[in-house]
Amino acid sequence: MAVFVFCLFRQSDLERGCDVKITLRLIMSLLIGTALVVLIFSYLQTRNEEVRLNEELGLRASVLAKTFTEAIEPFLEQTESPGRIRKFIEKFTGHKRLVGIIVYLKDTGLITIPTELGQRDLFRAECENTAENSKPTEVNRKWDGRDVNFYAMPITKADQVVGALGLIHDRTFIVRRIQEAWKSSAVTFSILAFILSATTLVIIRWSVTGPIAKIAEAIKKTASGEELPSLNVSSEPEDIDKLASAVIRMASHLKSVRKTLAEQSRAMNAHGAVWDRDRLRDYLKSKLGGRSLFVVANREPYMHRRRENGKEFECITPASGLVTALDPVLQATGGVWVAHGSGDADRDTSDSHGKIAVPPSKPTYFLKRVWLTAEEERGYYYGFSNEGFWPLCHISHMRPVFRVTDWHEYYKVNQKFAEALLSELPDESPLILVQDYHFALLPAMIKEARPDAKVALFWHIPWPNPEAFGICPWQKEILDGMLGSDLIGFHTQYHCNNFLDTVDRFLESRIDWSTFSVTRNSKTCSVRPFPISVSGASGFEESESVRKKVAALKRSYGLTDKWIGIGVDRIDYTKGLLERFRAIERTLEKYPHCVQKFVFVELGAPSRTLIEGYQSHLKEVEALSERVNTRFQKGNWKPILFLKDHHRQDVIREFYRAADFCLVSSLHDGMNLVAKEFVMEREDESGVLILSRFAGASQELSSALLINPYDIEGTADAIHQALNMVPEERKERMARMRTVIREHNVYRWAAEIVAELVKSF
Ligand code: G6P
Repeated sequence: MAVFVFCLFRQSDLERGCDVKITLRLIMSLLIGTALVVLIFSYLQTRNEEVRLNEELGLRASVLAKTFTEAIEPFLEQTESPGRIRKFIEKFTGHKRLVGIIVYLKDTGLITIPTELGQRDLFRAECENTAENSKPTEVNRKWDGRDVNFYAMPITKADQVVGALGLIHDRTFIVRRIQEAWKSSAVTFSILAFILSATTLVIIRWSVTGPIAKIAEAIKKTASGEELPSLNVSSEPEDIDKLASAVIRMASHLKSVRKTLAEQSRAMNAHGAVWDRDRLRDYLKSKLGGRSLFVVANREPYMHRRRENGKEFECITPASGLVTALDPVLQATGGVWVAHGSGDADRDTSDSHGKIAVPPSKPTYFLKRVWLTAEEERGYYYGFSNEGFWPLCHISHMRPVFRVTDWHEYYKVNQKFAEALLSELPDESPLILVQDYHFALLPAMIKEARPDAKVALFWHIPWPNPEAFGICPWQKEILDGMLGSDLIGFHTQYHCNNFLDTVDRFLESRIDWSTFSVTRNSKTCSVRPFPISVSGASGFEESESVRKKVAALKRSYGLTDKWIGIGVDRIDYTKGLLERFRAIERTLEKYPHCVQKFVFVELGAPSRTLIEGYQSHLKEVEALSERVNTRFQKGNWKPILFLKDHHRQDVIREFYRAADFCLVSSLHDGMNLVAKEFVMEREDESGVLILSRFAGASQELSSALLINPYDIEGTADAIHQALNMVPEERKERMARMRTVIREHNVYRWAAEIVAELVKSF
């Protein structure tokens, strides 16, 4: 059988372990099933046959015994009866099946043929019992190495039982017949097994593994960009064929998408490899024909705060990846940024429409501030956005909170932003970039008022899988609001897939996986990955004056002769600050030579501090840093320098330059632009990036030291590796990462989104 199975597979098939496994599993199950059926049937059949043959033999023995006793009884009346009886029974010697006769007479004992029976008193007990009980006896047993049937009947004389007559029949033929029946069952089973295995193999090859192999080949070829196999399914495809053909079709669509993307990429890369502010401006001018860009984002790029004296104002840039990415884009293109005016001096610095030209030093676009009441801010920003959406989308083990009051505020504020934006829009089809989870409802609201507008929604944080999203009570409203967009962007393909799966699960719609789009109520929305980035230029040129500034910074914090690690974050439970400090503690424990030689500087900007979860997280982080410091402190030296404040960009840049390594330990992060900022700041091509593999940035920055932030031991080892890395390796890794970011900077990100969005103009 094994040979047969082997022969039906080609060598290549055998290499496909998976096919072989499926086939063998199926065949083995069928064979075991068949064997059981054959076994049960054979058992029942042979048992019946044995019973029938035994009955026949018993009947024959009883008839014969009756005839014999009737023939013997007259001899009992005569003298010398034993001699006559012996003579009579000797006539039956050599009979084919009758192999022994015993006449037992109470008076005279046994008369037997063959005589050996009498000499050994064989069957005497059965004869005596028969005579005693006056009832026939029947037993099957072994005698002389063969199976025999013994049947005894009482002998009477004048109605008195005087003995018994026993007949011994050879029943070997019955045993042989049963053995033959079992043998023929085994043959039947083998034939059945052969036919079943052959049929199964043929069916599996034609209908299962063949199409599966085709699917696998299509997927493999799609991945490697090779020619796809031709579609060759039966005229009336079965389910599996349909699947194969759907996958192959999807693969060919993917191939065409890949081709288009490659063409787009070539177009993006034409006229030199690197995108910059001027190139984006020129590109958008040609693509948009003079149309302006409208951005809606909750966080404003420039915030005015009152100084401590209460009279003067200062302008700060909030710590936000979104701001880092989008401000350079609007500076390049011009346009309007609609945002929440959250600074306490914002009203004093804006006009009656809430507008102000920014950046203050060299204005290139307008910031339009929307004013929110404390109640609106609590419900929309702190509540629904940051206690609901934020933990919902990040796998960081913080339970999302959904309050109906927050939902109402969220809805109202989305409407408020829609009105603020609509009042700014020109007549000609405007191009609108809505940012992030604060505005899931906005795209549909804009489209309702301005169907001619082109709307893209970019989601800066991860998108969860359908199961996780399912806990949100307003799934349909949120998805419908988002699908008002013409284009939805995420950082990674994985988040796009999660989003499409979610729509598929919760809304009646048509998902086209080949074009990555959703059609609902006759409106189509494309879903694409656009990994966001930074400008690709460093904040300041490498110069003597910058070197002096960095040296002064080190001196001011007593870090001159120390190795320096840096972390820059909003203080948020998704950033893995506790894990980071534990890893620093472990580094000092495990590598004691680092004590007093190394300081980790954490530039932590307090964030969302009205939310209780953030307050308690901040306390935990502070307590942990103090504990680690107390444990290892020596003289003036402490291992962690926790600088809790909203730091100016130029100060952050100086720290980036001063650092030997930057540690990004996010537990889950859409992208994480700190990682990219650090790399772009290192014009000296030194410094090591230690990056969480759960941050979107890790997909592009594979030359970083990638860590699992939950693995404290692994992170401690990575810190030690970073501190001991030879300059050549540091340089090589850093140079590779800088090239990736330079080529995929935020100008290119914006150009790709706009190019995709204007496709349908
Ligand atoms: C991070 C996220 C952005 C988000 C921002 C909000 O940077 O990546 O997606 O918009 O936080 O921060 P905020 O301080 O405005 O709540």
